[in-house]
Amino acid sequence: MKRRALFLLAALSATGAFASPPATAPGTGEAATRAADAAKAFSGALRQALGGAMAEGGPAAAVAVCHDEAPRIAERVSAEHGVRLGRVGVRSRNPANRLEGWQKALLQEWQARPPAGPPSQWAPAVRHEGGTLRWARAIETEGLCLVCHGPRLDPGLEASIRARYPDDPATGFEAGSLRDLLWVEVDEAAGAAAPTSETRQAIPMREAEAAELRAQMRAHLERLEGITAALANGDTEAAASLLETAAAGRPGRFRTALPEGWFRFARPMHEAFGAAA
Ligand code: HEC
Repeated sequence: MKRRALFLLAALSATGAFASPPATAPGTGEAATRAADAAKAFSGALRQALGGAMAEGGPAAAVAVCHDEAPRIAERVSAEHGVRLGRVGVRSRNPANRLEGWQKALLQEWQARPPAGPPSQWAPAVRHEGGTLRWARAIETEGLCLVCHGPRLDPGLEASIRARYPDDPATGFEAGSLRDLLWVEVDEAAGAAAPTSETRQAIPMREAEAAELRAQMRAHLERLEGITAALANGDTEAAASLLETAAAGRPGRFRTALPEGWFRFARPMHEAFGAAA
């Protein structure tokens, strides 16, 4: 798994997938519009929550907003717009935000060869890759951000940030500098269906078939728990043997009732378990 991720990074930098000036690759089409709308909704909601908390309880209260609300807002906006989105920081206060992948590759690209002008003016990067639209915009450090990410923090505030993030590297940003990248992924194959509408499909089944399918799903979840526990204990042999079981598709009478879409979803998952094993 790891090797594959590294290979992807190498391929991205070798082909310079994101190296061309963004201005030559304008984001057009329904997916790009959806990505831009989602990014705007996320930024707007986050800024509102942050500004509101700062005005009400000061920066100390706003720290909690950044920690608790930002992921929730990202989740809500993702669901509402039918996309995946998030932020990846030039330096990340929360280790969970230290994302790898195309987002990191693009951010490094922008740091090494910044487009002209202030980051807020950079055109978004838009790439189509294997049925997925990858969209990203640079976020600039503004006056508001300096309170918690700037070169000089109020000592009380700094202490409370240090208490939560002992090795915090996310200060020292100057106004106008690149703070992070706001990224959005849209599955283009999913079509133009309204993202908030019901996209699930009812599958008619006999009661016995449904019970058998549920039993398999439960066994599957139990194996996943076992794999996680084995990995946590450093027992790679137990993990591998569970992964092998998870990789093997089980026969079941319910299978004939399942639509092709089910297998398009399940097959890569079983293959990934096999590769992990
Ligand atoms: C009140 C303090 C505060 C202000 C103001 C603030 N931030 Fe943050 N920021 C934080 C905290 C705390 C985190 C860590 C959140 C977490 O635990 O996920 C964070 C995380 C981030 C991250 C995610 C990467 C990381 O470091 O973990 C980005 C990107 C970010 N902030 C950008 C901004 C920008 C841009 C602004 C200005 C528009 C801003 N922040 C204003 C406190 C603040």
